[in-house]
Amino acid sequence: MENKKIPRHVAIIMDGNGRWAQRRGLPRHMGHKVGAESVRDVIRVSLEVGVEYLTLFAFSTENWTRPQEEVMGLMHLLKFLIRREVESLNREGVSIRVIGRVHKLPPDVLEELKRAMEMTKDNTRLYLYLALSYGGRAEIVDAVNRIISEGVKEIDEESFRHYLYAPEAPYPDLLIRTAGEKRISNFLLWQLAYTELYFTDVLWPDFRRDEYLKAIEDYARRVRRFGGVVEGRS
Ligand code: FPP
Repeated sequence: MENKKIPRHVAIIMDGNGRWAQRRGLPRHMGHKVGAESVRDVIRVSLEVGVEYLTLFAFSTENWTRPQEEVMGLMHLLKFLIRREVESLNREGVSIRVIGRVHKLPPDVLEELKRAMEMTKDNTRLYLYLALSYGGRAEIVDAVNRIISEGVKEIDEESFRHYLYAPEAPYPDLLIRTAGEKRISNFLLWQLAYTELYFTDVLWPDFRRDEYLKAIEDYARRVRRFGGVVEGRS
């Protein structure tokens, strides 16, 4: 990856866990479990190549409508993974943060997340944002409601930005979506305005190191081609 443009902020829609499991005759939760290994790979590679911000769409506002059993399974997995990984993430300099209507999460999951965020809050090597109970329209509506409640009378794009869930993060340079669908699906609607989009048919549990490096290389080629124009963007 030497001499190549590395995206500063990568956002990922991790899709296809269910299909991965189905194709193997396994229950859906196995897809999520194996998908968690892809999350580890992507974090590791991000640290290696110098991605500074990584935002993962782990659970959408719409995902609450999935069968109760799957929702609870995902919540349990999330709690388990955070508990298992937080210390090594902390050692690696990863700062864990969340975006979304996180107050909707079960209290025990929220507790685990708070503990992880507190432990890693001073780290600066990689900012890992977990989008949980996240919706792009909900984020914009939440921002507008805060603006109203503060009695602000006028807003512009720059001041609006400060009301987003993570105003400190630069906008994503690269969005990756796995599993074939070519949609944004209510992810980071405001932030993706100028983001390069990368779609792959690979299902999330199969999206490992080499697939991620391929996406980053694809981005580097695009940026090199349009360097003058893209350079210096937020
Ligand atoms: C989409 O696949 C995936 C999800 C809704 C959950 C993603 C969660 C993980 C990979 C667990 C680990 C996450 C973190 C951040 C620690 P899908 O179920 O929509 O697949 P389908 O479209 O094939 O049904």
